[in-house]
Amino acid sequence: MMSDPAHAESPVIVARDGAVATITVNRPAVRNALNDATLGAIDAAVAALDADPDVRVILLTGAGDKAFVAGADITELSRATAVTGRTLAQRGQAVFDRIAAAGKPVIAVINGYCLGGGCELALACTFRFAADTAEIGQPEINLGIIPGYGGSQRLPRLIGRDRALDLILTGRRVTAAEALVLGLVTRVYPAATLRAEALAYARELAGKAPIAVRLALDAVRAGLEQPLAEALAHEAALFGLVSATDDMREGTRAFLEKRPAQFTGR
Ligand code: COA
Repeated sequence: MMSDPAHAESPVIVARDGAVATITVNRPAVRNALNDATLGAIDAAVAALDADPDVRVILLTGAGDKAFVAGADITELSRATAVTGRTLAQRGQAVFDRIAAAGKPVIAVINGYCLGGGCELALACTFRFAADTAEIGQPEINLGIIPGYGGSQRLPRLIGRDRALDLILTGRRVTAAEALVLGLVTRVYPAATLRAEALAYARELAGKAPIAVRLALDAVRAGLEQPLAEALAHEAALFGLVSATDDMREGTRAFLEKRPAQFTGR
């Protein structure tokens, strides 16, 4: 990934490598902590990349070799009142909801500490790929607070109630290996190869039919929030929709003609 020196001071750097875009949270001096400006920059970057049909997969990572994101900015957090605390949580939730609803896969590339708001950011992503050196947790309890950017909801939905409460109530950090066993991360790689592995996986997904990718994301996400009968009806409707695409004709014809499919995104 190329980083543009002109943007060295931006809280977020966006780089493109073909159909794969990388968003790098860029506040290494404070372990990429999320202040308001950084949340806004992440939101703007995700909105732009989600709307760009040439981008098929988004990688999200942290600058430097220490941290993915070490949480909400505790300096900002320490000033919260009853009113502003609620607004702060709603703001972070809205930014992360946009990531969770993106029409393309968003992969958290967890290159180091992934704590608090950083863990919640990763939870909003489609997948979490972690370096073997990463440490992950929801340490809010040690600050006398609770997760406020969706962690108390997305964590139990991903790893189950008891495992989530164990992490939320103790605030302990788990290693990447334990996170893999818990189902908290999707894959673990040696730190030195994490970015290359994530890029290779992203390129593979970028070669799939993008409408099918979008609808598969929709079917799984919506279905998990619905009763089975409704979810199956939704799946069938989406299957009808995908059956109307050029890529469906191409994919099935290519199989029958024993050649690789050439998807066009239509
Ligand atoms: N908000 C604001 N600043 C933070 C931060 C955060 N979430 N996390 C780290 N920083 C700052 C530190 O205050 C320190 O600033 P300084 O250089 O001005 O002293 C700098 O980043 C480096 O942190 P340091 O603790 O010295 O680095 P480390 O590599 O030894 O430890 C962590 C890294 C992530 C384990 C440790 O910083 C930490 O526990 N951070 C807070 C994690 C947390 O509670 N997050 C939940 C917030 S809701």
